[in-house]
Amino acid sequence: MKILTSSQDMRDACRRTKGRIGLVPTMGALHDGHLSLIRRARAECDTVVASIFVNPTQFAPGEDYDIYPRSLDEDCVKLEGAGADLLFTPNVEEMYPAGLTSGSMSSVDVGEVANRLDGASRPGHFRGVATVVTKLFHIVGPDRAYFGQKDAAQIAVLRTMIRDLNFPVQLVACPIVREPDGLAMSSRNLRLSPDERRRALVLHAALQAACELAAAGETSSAVLREAMLKRFAEAPGVRLDYASIVDPDRLLPVEDISATSAGALMAVAAWVGSTRLIDNVLTKNLLSEQILRNGVPEPAHA
Ligand code: PAJ
Repeated sequence: MKILTSSQDMRDACRRTKGRIGLVPTMGALHDGHLSLIRRARAECDTVVASIFVNPTQFAPGEDYDIYPRSLDEDCVKLEGAGADLLFTPNVEEMYPAGLTSGSMSSVDVGEVANRLDGASRPGHFRGVATVVTKLFHIVGPDRAYFGQKDAAQIAVLRTMIRDLNFPVQLVACPIVREPDGLAMSSRNLRLSPDERRRALVLHAALQAACELAAAGETSSAVLREAMLKRFAEAPGVRLDYASIVDPDRLLPVEDISATSAGALMAVAAWVGSTRLIDNVLTKNLLSEQILRNGVPEPAHA
C-alpha cells in the first residue's frame, strides 16, 4: 500500500491507475466497520483508495476534535490487510490551505437535509462533511465511494449532494457492523469506561424493541418511538439526543413506516457520559439486519 500526504501526488497516483476506483473516506482509529467498507471496495473495484483525515471543519468548538482517537501506524497495517492500494493522509494545512476561519474558505452547503437528525444537534457538522468529501472526490476521482449505514444522516446528505451537484460518483451504502453484544462499532467506543460501555447497549436495545414491534406488524411511528423512549427512560447515565423515525432520503418524520416503499429509518443518538453515540435501523432491512437475528426463528427444515 502506497501512502501519500500531498493532494497533487494523490491526484497523480489516481490518474495513473486503470479501471474502476473505489474510495473509502475515514477519520482513522479503524475497526471492523471501516474495514468492511475496504473489503467491499476491494471486491468491486480495481483500485481501492482509503483516506484518513480527522476533519476539523466537521467538529464544532467544544466537540471532541482534540481527543478524537488517532492510531495511524495500526491503521496502516489494518488497511493493508483489508486490501487497500493507496492511502491518503493529508494534514490540516494540506486540506485547508486558506485556514479554518469560515469566512476565508469555500464550503459546500447541501440544504435542509443537512439540518436534520445529527445536523440539528450539531449545526455546521454536515457542511464540514460535505466540504471534505467534495475535496476528496476531486482529488481522487472515484467511480464509487463507500460509506457506512451507521451514519445514516451522512448518507442522506451525501446522496443529496452527489445528485444536486452532479458528482460522477456512485455512493455505496454498507451495512452496520456490530460488536457481538449488538453495540454498533465506532471509533468513539474506545473512549467509554467499562461502565459506560455497558450503558451504551441501550441504543441497540431501544432499536431492537422497536424492531420487534415492527416485525410483529406495528407500523405506527408514534407507538414504535414510544417503545424506544421507554428504554432510554429506564437507562441511567444516558442522555437521549434524539429517537426519530424518518424517511431515509430527506430525513423528515413519517407517521407510518409502511407509507413508502423505501421504508423508514429508525435512528437514535445519545450521550453516554461525555461520548455521543448513534445507531439506526432501516425498516426495509428488518429481517436481514443482524440486530434482529436473535429474535428471528430459524426456518423449519422440511
Ligand atoms: P468515520 O467516522 O471514520 O467513518 C468512516 C466510514 O466508516 C463512514 O462511512 C462510516 O459510516 C463508516 N462506519 C463507521 N462505523 C461503522 C460500522 N460500525 N459499520 C459500518 N460502517 C461504519 O464518517 C466519517 O468518518 C467522516 O464523516 C468522513 C465521511 C470520513 C468525512 O470526514
